[in-house]
Amino acid sequence: MSPPPHCFLSILFLFFIKSHGDNYLSPSSPTICPSHECGTIPIKYPFWSKDNLVSNQTFCGYPDFGLTCSNGKAILELPRDSYYVEDINYKDQTITLVDIDVTTQRNCPRARHNLSIDNLPLDYNSDLDVNISFYFNCSSSLSFGSIVGCLGSSDKLLQSYVALLVDGLDISNWFGICQEKVVVTVMKTNIPSSDDLTSGFAAAMNSGFVLDWRVLQDCRECEASQGYCGYSNLSKNVFCICTDSIQAHNCGSSGMSLTVIYSFIPD
Ligand SMILES: *[C@@H]1O[C@H](CO)[C@@H](O)[C@H](O)[C@H]1NC(C)=O
Ligand SMILES: *[C@@H]1O[C@H](CO)[C@@H](O)[C@H](O)[C@H]1NC(C)=O
Ligand SMILES: *[C@@H]1O[C@H](CO)[C@@H](O)[C@H](O)[C@H]1NC(C)=O
Ligand SMILES: *[C@@H]1O[C@H](CO)[C@@H](O)[C@H](O)[C@H]1NC(C)=O
Ligand SMILES: *[C@@H]1O[C@H](CO)[C@@H](O)[C@H](O)[C@H]1NC(C)=O
Repeated sequence: MSPPPHCFLSILFLFFIKSHGDNYLSPSSPTICPSHECGTIPIKYPFWSKDNLVSNQTFCGYPDFGLTCSNGKAILELPRDSYYVEDINYKDQTITLVDIDVTTQRNCPRARHNLSIDNLPLDYNSDLDVNISFYFNCSSSLSFGSIVGCLGSSDKLLQSYVALLVDGLDISNWFGICQEKVVVTVMKTNIPSSDDLTSGFAAAMNSGFVLDWRVLQDCRECEASQGYCGYSNLSKNVFCICTDSIQAHNCGSSGMSLTVIYSFIPD
């Protein structure tokens, strides 16, 4: 006589605890979610390596968190710009990024874009970051900020300014005077006060800034059931990768396919 079905469910449950017990970053991740190294950066869930795709249609991780590796540097593409990944802290769920454009102009970087994180599951880290604003090519002087000589025109008719401002303080003051404003995020520790701006902005921009990542809304249910979120580039939707099955939403017993349960029942 075979044991009652709930017994098999218990076995299954233990199996899940065993393989996903500590946290979702445990080394026993499903083989479909492998870890990779790029230089000193470990690429693990929810990040994934674009250079090591098992299939070009599906991957394990958040759709926008694919990293490429070039000359030992991991690269993340955000909507308007590409960034070197200097660090990923999987425990604190933070990522440190440096604008690639900046690294090619070390001593006097000219930021081209505002950081754009749109709807990605990324957030500014208000504890570690500070915003500095650049006002490029201003035809008369601004009532705030400091002149950055190396960003002005060679004839000095146009000057560029940098300022550490509370958002909104500068509204309309620069408009019509300067050609462009770009807001750059850097780490607070690299710009302790406005006095350090003109001497420190280049090094600060080359050290980058920190973003937090949060659970992607569509992956919440899956991760809560100890699954790993995957993405299909064909159907453009996420699914849930469980220890030994792939499910639509989560790895809970109710979401588990019958075929998986039956596979544990001996003949
Ligand atoms: C996903 O599909 C788009 C085209 O729909 C393609 O440009 C992109 O490279 C694909 N991503 C991966 C990781 O294969
Ligand atoms: C990616 O998938 C498409 C569609 O199935 C296929 O035609 C193409 O050969 C694949 N490319 C690679 C590099 O595997
Ligand atoms: C920096 O600017 C962005 C975009 O305006 C804003 O969301 C963020 O809170 C600012 N960060 C800090 C530390 O002020
Ligand atoms: C300022 O304007 C000049 C001439 O239009 C341009 O060549 C230069 O790149 C601009 N400088 C900045 C920092 O935008
Ligand atoms: C950057 O964002 C500011 C608002 O914070 C905006 O005024 C400015 O035009 C933006 N610059 C570019 C280059 O998009």
